[in-house]
Amino acid sequence: MSTIEQAAKRLEEMRRAAAEPNLADAGNPAGSLDAAPTPEALVRGMPSRTQARSPFVGSPGAGSATPRRASPFGQATRPRLDIDFAALKRNAFLTPDAPQSPIADEFRIVKRPIMRNALGPAKVRNGNLVMVTSSLPGEGKTYTAVNLAMSVAMEYDTSVILVDGDVAHPDVPNILGSPREPGLLELLTDSSLSINDVLVPTNVENLAILPAGAQQGRATELLASAQMHKKLNELSARYADLVIIFDSPPLLPTTEARELATHMGQILMVVGADSTQQHAVKLALTAIEKCDIVLMLLNKAAKTDIGSYGGYYRYGTPRG
Ligand SMILES: Nc1ncnc2c1ncn2[C@@H]1O[C@H](COP(=O)(O)OP(=O)(O)OP(=O)(O)O)[C@@H](O)[C@H]1O
Ligand SMILES: [Mg+2]
Repeated sequence: MSTIEQAAKRLEEMRRAAAEPNLADAGNPAGSLDAAPTPEALVRGMPSRTQARSPFVGSPGAGSATPRRASPFGQATRPRLDIDFAALKRNAFLTPDAPQSPIADEFRIVKRPIMRNALGPAKVRNGNLVMVTSSLPGEGKTYTAVNLAMSVAMEYDTSVILVDGDVAHPDVPNILGSPREPGLLELLTDSSLSINDVLVPTNVENLAILPAGAQQGRATELLASAQMHKKLNELSARYADLVIIFDSPPLLPTTEARELATHMGQILMVVGADSTQQHAVKLALTAIEKCDIVLMLLNKAAKTDIGSYGGYYRYGTPRG
């Protein structure tokens, strides 16, 4: 029996049990309980995955079908970025074409509480603004932010904006090949620019990138400005059903990350397992204590305690 036939059989059983009354009509318009829907009719009755998913359609170069619901990025004007999945894979990143990999499994665990806080029934204030940070450089912030964004984008019905918030040392362009500017900093300084002018749609249907922007000396002041506060509140409200992930600088050696943290609904604190001392982590946590939701992620740990995968992550809250 083919997969479709098996699915049809299962659906028919459910229909008989009245578990899914609407599905009875998909392949059986007459509504007779005796005639099973044909597999072809069931497939016809299903919503198009591509159409339902992509929020980036309408952008030049997006090249996808028209979405059913209005696209939040329908007005984005920049060309689509084609992310090189093979290059990502070579560097141990998660890619949407490998949903069964160990890293995909690890990030399923990482993303669940974040998505719940961002979009669930008990979502927290500005919970869809998620900052990925660490105490010190090199602990895996960008690696985590990119993978988390990929993982969320692989959800059936959730979209994500990856913001390169490490404005002094933007690394997302090196990994995803995205343009450096214009981006966040221009959005803060040029009142003629809108989010649609800076957002970069990608070949991952549910993922767009907001670059850091051109480097400049006033970056910290800009991130601390009232304009930043306004823009982030706007972003959070306008894209309330999206997850917005900020790659960011480390907390201890910079002030930018602390400024960014004041706007966030959730913070994912990456801790390099073998490199970061406890007192550095404690100090960093005090810098972000105003944020109600701080999740800790132990990166590059030799072994996890969350399952049998010999993966990289442990996960928990500092107060838990
Ligand atoms: N779990 C992991 N598995 C494999 N490689 C990793 C992992 N975590 C980090 N890396 C690699 O380690 C290096 C440093 O990671 P990354 O650039 O993400 O750190 P960072 O905290 O963003 O650094 P910076 O503070 O300089 O921005 C990169 O080459 C990254 O690909
Ligand atoms: Mg980085």
